Order: sequence, then C-alpha cells, then structure tokens
Amino acid sequence: MEFKEKINLEKLPQHIAIIMDGNGRWAKQQGEQRIFGHENGVKSVRESVEAAAELGIKYLTLYAFSTENWNRPQEEVIALMQLLVHTISAETKTLNENKIRLQAIGDLKSLPDDCYRELHEAIDNTKNNTRTTLVLALSYSSRWEITNAMKQIAEQIENKKLSVLEITEETINANLCTAGIPEPELMIRTSGEHRISNFLLWQLAYSELYFTDKLWPDFRKNDLYEAIVDYQNRERRFGKTSEQLITK
Ligand code: FPP
Repeated sequence: MEFKEKINLEKLPQHIAIIMDGNGRWAKQQGEQRIFGHENGVKSVRESVEAAAELGIKYLTLYAFSTENWNRPQEEVIALMQLLVHTISAETKTLNENKIRLQAIGDLKSLPDDCYRELHEAIDNTKNNTRTTLVLALSYSSRWEITNAMKQIAEQIENKKLSVLEITEETINANLCTAGIPEPELMIRTSGEHRISNFLLWQLAYSELYFTDKLWPDFRKNDLYEAIVDYQNRERRFGKTSEQLITK
C-alpha cells in the first residue's frame, strides 16, 4: 500500500529519530558477511534522508554507531568506520544540493582521526543549509551523554557559574549533545526488536515509539511514510486525559 498520500502535511513531526537495526541479520539471510548488510544499509539511509527532506521534516536523527558497538569484532568496527567516512565524504555534495545540514552527536573524539576530520569537514561544509538537519549519532549512548551533562553541570557549580537551586530541566537540556534540537515526536526502530538500547533516553520521554519487522537494508521511503501515518493516528496526551485534549 502507498502511504505518502495518507500523510497530513499539517501534522508532520518536526523530528524523527531512527534506530537502524538488522543489517547483520539481513547479510546473514543473503549468506554474506555482516559488513555487506551495513553497505546495503546506506541505500536506506539515503532514502530516509531524501524522504524526510522532501516532506519538510526538520530533523532526522540516525543511530549509526553506539558506544557499545566498539565491542564488536575489530574487523567489523574498522569496516563500519571506513564505510561511514566514505559515505559522509561522498554524500556532502548531495547534502548541499538538497540544502541538508549535517550534525553529529556522541563521543566524537573517540572516533578514528580520519573519521573525525571528514565528519567535521562535512558538518562545516553544510552548516548554512536550512531545509532539514541530519543528525548522526556516532559513538553515542544516552548514559554517556547524561553522565557528561552531569559533569558539565557540576563543573559550572564548582566554578560558581550556577547554583544547585538554579538547576531545571532546561539546564539539563542545555548540557546534552542535543542542545537546541527539538525532542523527537517519533522514534522508529527496525528489525523487530522492541528496545530503546541507550538511545536518547531523556529526549524520548514523550515520543511515540514505532517498531517494524523490516530489517534496515529493506527500509524504503514508503516504510517511513507508513510510520508517519501511524504516528499521526495516535493521540499524544502528555499525561492529560483525552477529554482535556478536546476541551483544551
Ligand atoms: C545495526 O545493525 C546497524 C549499525 C550498527 C550500523 C548502521 C550503519 C549504517 C547503515 C551504515 C551507514 C550509515 C550512515 C549514517 C552513512 P546490526 O549490525 O546491529 O544488525 P543485527 O542486529 O542484525 O546484527
């Protein structure tokens, strides 16, 4: 079924976050090595970014590499990093042509030097684009991010720039990697796993969660449209009752 026509363009989420999962299983189904799945996942990345930009979604965050992924076999980590660097460099021109800005969240200093350099070049080269922002979560985990935010806040208190009584949710927001980025209204995870896996734990507090059995390399524009339609049919109550929402 085609879902694009069913999307209400007046009720689009501003920010969609995706846990791209299932590359390894997809490769295994084809009798190939895991990296073959990651390579084929690049097409799904392209399709999702293109679909989000065409619709006018302001932010798309992709979980590309978690802090825990460093524990995978060394050859997979190296191949994945090379793929990321190569893809980022190769796609910068297309990002600019489509007015897409690249940003990254995570412990970026832990990336290999070439990856870090290419990433920063691409971020710098696309920084004036305003149509859609593509946020790559790289060497990212939410617990790392929250721990880091706590350290930064403690430092500000130690340096007398902030008092304990002044700490609010905004203080915490401002010290996360996602400072300035609106919270995702919709989080999608592929591959049939129903977990958040240390991804945007603070930011997903009120997000609608959407799970699909599709493995990431099979994810296409229509799958993104389907998730958006599903999101638009949900009632977001933020702790209120349905009646309160109607009489609001
Ligand atoms: C999860 O599948 C996927 C990843 C850890 C990496 C995602 C990376 C890409 C799609 C490469 C290109 C990305 C960008 C942003 C250019 P998995 O390996 O955990 O699959 P499994 O659960 O089946 O083992």
